[in-house]
Amino acid sequence: MASESRYDETIAAWKRDPEAFWAEAARGIDWDRPWDQVFDPALGPYGQWFAGGMLNTCFNAVDRHVRDGRGEQAALIWDSPMAGRVESWTYTQLRDRVAKVAGALRALGVRQGDRVVIYLPMVPEAAISMLACARIGAVHSVVFGGFAAAELAKRIEDAEPVVVISASCGLEPGRVIRYKPLLDAAIGFSAHKPRACLILQRPQAEAALTPGRDHDFAAAEAAAAPADPVSVPATDPLYILYTSGTTGKPKGVVRDCGGHAVALHNSMRMVYGVGAGDVYWAASDVGWVVGHSYIVYAPLLAGCTTILYEGKPVGTPDPGAFWRVCAQHGVKLLFTAPTALRAIKQQDPEARHLAGHDMSKLEALYLAGERCDPPTAIWAAETLRLPVVDHWWQTETGWAITAGFRGLGLFPPKPGAGGRPSPGYDVQALDEAGHVLPRGQSGNLAVRLPLPPGCAPTLWRNAEGYVAAYLADYPGWYRTGDAGVVDAEGDVSVMGRTDDIINVAGHRLSTGAMEEVLAGHAAVAECAVVGVQDALKGHVPLGLVVLKAGANQDEATICRELVALVRERIGPVAAFKDARVVQRLPKTRSGKILRASIRRIADGEPAAPPPTIDDPAILDEIGAVLGRSRPA
Ligand code: COA
Ligand code: AMP
Repeated sequence: MASESRYDETIAAWKRDPEAFWAEAARGIDWDRPWDQVFDPALGPYGQWFAGGMLNTCFNAVDRHVRDGRGEQAALIWDSPMAGRVESWTYTQLRDRVAKVAGALRALGVRQGDRVVIYLPMVPEAAISMLACARIGAVHSVVFGGFAAAELAKRIEDAEPVVVISASCGLEPGRVIRYKPLLDAAIGFSAHKPRACLILQRPQAEAALTPGRDHDFAAAEAAAAPADPVSVPATDPLYILYTSGTTGKPKGVVRDCGGHAVALHNSMRMVYGVGAGDVYWAASDVGWVVGHSYIVYAPLLAGCTTILYEGKPVGTPDPGAFWRVCAQHGVKLLFTAPTALRAIKQQDPEARHLAGHDMSKLEALYLAGERCDPPTAIWAAETLRLPVVDHWWQTETGWAITAGFRGLGLFPPKPGAGGRPSPGYDVQALDEAGHVLPRGQSGNLAVRLPLPPGCAPTLWRNAEGYVAAYLADYPGWYRTGDAGVVDAEGDVSVMGRTDDIINVAGHRLSTGAMEEVLAGHAAVAECAVVGVQDALKGHVPLGLVVLKAGANQDEATICRELVALVRERIGPVAAFKDARVVQRLPKTRSGKILRASIRRIADGEPAAPPPTIDDPAILDEIGAVLGRSRPA
């Protein structure tokens, strides 16, 4: 397969001269000033791309398409079964709205380098606000709507925004979620107070505005003078996206301007094989990295039409929702999470809801966010009669580490694997000491430094944290935190995380953060949270708690309170619904909780007591509480 493709020669070209490779890719972007150095190893924890260059990402994503004659093409389609609306903006209309919102932010005192937190549901104003920030050189930080006030507060406190943009409400099936009380509570919790809030009033539930602080989004947009794009250094931050680390404190992943624009623009052709005029749909949320990269920036940088979908794969109104959107808008490439397909397959295994939808424009389905189980991939490929591509990436990388490459003819990739490394990534499995393992042996997946353009150069105001989290374990390498194998042909299979991060319905969550919440309950002496297998969501969290001696509430009440506490502190997205009381937790002789053993018991897998275990009998006690006998 590879010999017929241009993959090998592209990899060879990149390896021969990485700087020439990326300088060539950078020609796809409009620069206000060329870079002094393609890569400057002296900047940041491992170096930075396009140092000295100046550009504006919003200009590249919007204005230049108007300049180049695409002004009348649809840029953004908002399809909301939740609100019962479908609306579309051409590139010219998008430019005009973005310029006005940028002007409104300026009028509220936002200057270049200032932060703006965006806490919005899947409304077009989310993408427009992100682009408006980019237009004036402000740094946006989007917070996913399913997070609770306390999580929003952590992000406000760390990013110190001048302005927060939010909405009166979000729409989930069967209920309206009032965002404004969550925002008010978050600002109350946070030591940092934004100067102003811009609130989008939605008709499903309008919010009372706080005088002197809150401004109506639509009125501010209407009254604003349009702002022109400003030229910003390529190495300046475009955005901060907080993601789960191993503790309750989220990591502020920083994306720079220049490397990001180059990598994302390049990826549209190279990875997905789409270009200007094509309709591209990433069925994700703007609160996650997939939404940042492939709902907003990459499709617009490439001059595509992008779809922002406010709905679910099932229930809005039925499991044919994705097929309806693809047919109605002529989607050429669909990108979603395996969990969405599992939801559709569960409700409509025969794909009856596909009938009547003209899917002739759809050429491929790309999956990411979690490991794709083969039955789901096979079901999707047979149902759609299309190649299904699993590709692996992370918030930190911003684009695919491994993939199948429509643009390079390496397509479809080998079934069951996560694809080959994207040009720019030297991916290897390492042993614990950091030695490269022979092909076919599983280990810690790592990428040889430097990371390619588009990957996070640092963490927000925390370069030491970046080094500690990703670079310190294996000098000269970026530690991905995933375990996996590189096989003889170079295909990479990703098995799962090696740390306390779990993926629940494609949402990245920290079990450490949940443990911090459980440990805060007055009756809890100690606890462990692990991710257990779930047929729909991939994994769901399970909490085991040991109660303090003398805790005088009954166990069922305590467990209900723990479930409510995680929902209140972290948010409904954590999907924490199962807490159990145990007498003891399995530990090593040095006192470390053996979470992997708990997980294996919960999953019904063989869980031989590890040699370091203090008391093997505890595993049987846990098995009894979970209703699982421990297979030998
Ligand atoms: N605002 C407020 N609440 C939200 C929310 C938002 N933006 N997004 C999710 N929630 C809530 C849900 O209403 C749900 O609440 P509940 O516990 O009261 O039911 C909870 O958070 C969990 O949501 P979700 O994970 O979406 O589960 P679900 O059961 O509602 O739906 C799926 C299951 C599989 C249909 C859904 O998870 C899905 O579409 N996943 C794809 C995820 C994805 O695209 N991830 C991006 C990675 S590429
Ligand atoms: P996020 O930062 O939310 O994108 O989550 C990144 C994590 O999701 C990775 O570290 C992996 O654990 C997991 N992940 C993403 N894509 C894949 C994939 N294609 N296969 C296996 N795991 C994946």
